[in-house]
Amino acid sequence: MSKVFITCALPYANGPCHLGHLRSTYIPADIYARYNRMKMRDVLFVCATDEHGTPIAVRAEEIGKSPKEIADKFHKMIKDDLDSCDISFDYFSRTTDPIHYEISQNFFLTLYEKGYIYEKIIKQPYCNKCKRFLPDRYVEGICPHCKGEGARGDHCETCGRHLDPIQLEEPACLICSSTPEIKKSKQYFFKLSHFEDSLKEWIENNEDLPPNVKNYALQWIKEGLKDWILTRDMEWGIPVPLENAEGKIIYVWGEAFLGYISAAAQWSAKENKPWEDYWNDKTIHFIGKDIIYHHAIFWPALLMGYGCKLPSNIVAGEYLSLEGKKMSTSKNWVIWASEFLEKFDSDILRYYLVVNAPLTRDTDFSWDDFQRRVNDELADVLGNFLHRTFSFTGRFFNSQIPEPDAFDEYDKEFKDRITGIPEVVSELIENFKFREGLIEIIRLAKFANKYFNDKEPWKAIKEKPEEAANCLYLCNQLAKTLSIILTPYIPVKAPQIMEIMNLHNFETSKWESAAEFIPAGHKINKPKPLFSKIDDSVIKKEKEALYENLKDDDEMKNIISIEDFAKIDLRIGQIIDVERVEGTNNLLKLRIDVKEKKLQIVAGLAKKYSPDEIKGQKVVVLVNLKPAKLFGIKSEGMILATSDNLSVLSAENAEIGEKIK
Ligand code: 2FM
Ligand code: ZN
Repeated sequence: MSKVFITCALPYANGPCHLGHLRSTYIPADIYARYNRMKMRDVLFVCATDEHGTPIAVRAEEIGKSPKEIADKFHKMIKDDLDSCDISFDYFSRTTDPIHYEISQNFFLTLYEKGYIYEKIIKQPYCNKCKRFLPDRYVEGICPHCKGEGARGDHCETCGRHLDPIQLEEPACLICSSTPEIKKSKQYFFKLSHFEDSLKEWIENNEDLPPNVKNYALQWIKEGLKDWILTRDMEWGIPVPLENAEGKIIYVWGEAFLGYISAAAQWSAKENKPWEDYWNDKTIHFIGKDIIYHHAIFWPALLMGYGCKLPSNIVAGEYLSLEGKKMSTSKNWVIWASEFLEKFDSDILRYYLVVNAPLTRDTDFSWDDFQRRVNDELADVLGNFLHRTFSFTGRFFNSQIPEPDAFDEYDKEFKDRITGIPEVVSELIENFKFREGLIEIIRLAKFANKYFNDKEPWKAIKEKPEEAANCLYLCNQLAKTLSIILTPYIPVKAPQIMEIMNLHNFETSKWESAAEFIPAGHKINKPKPLFSKIDDSVIKKEKEALYENLKDDDEMKNIISIEDFAKIDLRIGQIIDVERVEGTNNLLKLRIDVKEKKLQIVAGLAKKYSPDEIKGQKVVVLVNLKPAKLFGIKSEGMILATSDNLSVLSAENAEIGEKIK
């Protein structure tokens, strides 16, 4: 039996899961794992929480707890989140497990002994007050590239560049705010540059790598690879297993990958099966696009250095925004998995996050769109098809799959589509085109609804009962096929279809049985509704609660709604009369024809335009501004002009009185 080793990027144990994590990594990986199990492949699906690194250490210091305490809390939360979303890991571990320490240290040692890790004295920021070096997030400052503020020692959020902590301008210790000095320190480097050519060859020749991964990776290789600093001076982490390396730990990215192996090793110990067989057969990493560099460059190079098989593929899901705006946990512009799943079924979330867009494209979660897809597709298309099939079978065929008669062309087309769909979806899932697979399924369910309507079995049952029998025979077959091919996508609801159909799990857990037909005479159970619609009031409440988080957001304070904008009445007006306002050097009194009426406007344009120059011009005018007096003269609107240069927005080709929208 072929084996597949499937991994998900290890979530940092410093926050719970949100919908972005689920969309980019965990749901796609789970669909793939479940599908492969149904293809009777031997699957090992693992993950763990990533519990080292400065974010956790800094957070712990800020709230006066130990990093391990934080990791304990979030490990549990993350595990619960992933369980509630039905992510079917075979093993979910932690990078603080002793086995992980052992595996990571051995890996480091092997690379060191093979000469791929070398020592070098480098300059590092050091806080005299805190008496320690300031790796990564422990130091903040201004980005030397984009001048963005709040750049961290290793990364600038504003421009996305990777940084060296000593490059930061105006650096400050994150804990005590004092200015660090620069001190020398010995660190260990991984010879990444040595692997440039082999990596290039591997990436170029790997036909399976998705284009987003391939393109990014090749672009970075083209820019040239520098050796990676693989250690840090700090306490929280896995100690460097060498003499004279006290106080140094392996950089979190130098050991997190080994979490894939250490989780598998723990599973092996429990199951008494060698994880290596899985790794050596086929290994697929599911990640978010922000860590393509790490997985397509750094990890394969480490593996080449160590001397073992490289992953077969890397699947990178792109970002999810929320209501059109970038997600931000610090601004609470986020939907946490646990909160969502308390109110809605996991399957409808899985459905929506997959059907929304291809994995290799950024996409948006919007409450309205979520409601629309659930109501229109799950309830109206899929739910309705299943319900009418089952209730009709109950009512007119004594809950038994009817005996079919000779098929007409329409029946034959439907039958071919039913028997063909498992292969179509299979091909798409094999190629990580999860959304496309789901779209094919919904398309067939739509076709089935149309077929049902056209066949009018409620009429046919009286006049041509064999036609009604054919219709219900085929609809039941599709329902059964759907219950199998939908299982990877909606693993809770799909078995409920099987239950209604009185099919036992062992018959339906095989993908290959999806195209087989149930014999006529098979008795089904009483139907129950599977997908209900989401009411407007529910969505309204969710939106109100979410938007409440933006109340204090500066960017949002300036945002106006479409209704606000609609209040602004802008017209094209022609200046028909102009004179200077006596006693001022900047004001002009203008008469403007906006077709419906003539307005008197006082505007501060005299420094830029003489009355002769501006007379006759067609300009953009705000006509519904509350009248005011300027210098004792009534002004009934505003002429739009740039604020510094005072250039009026002219519209020479437009008609006088035209409305601007
Ligand atoms: O970016 C992240 O969230 C990391 N915690 C992912 C680590 S994946 C792998 F290296 F284990
Ligand atoms: Zn300090």
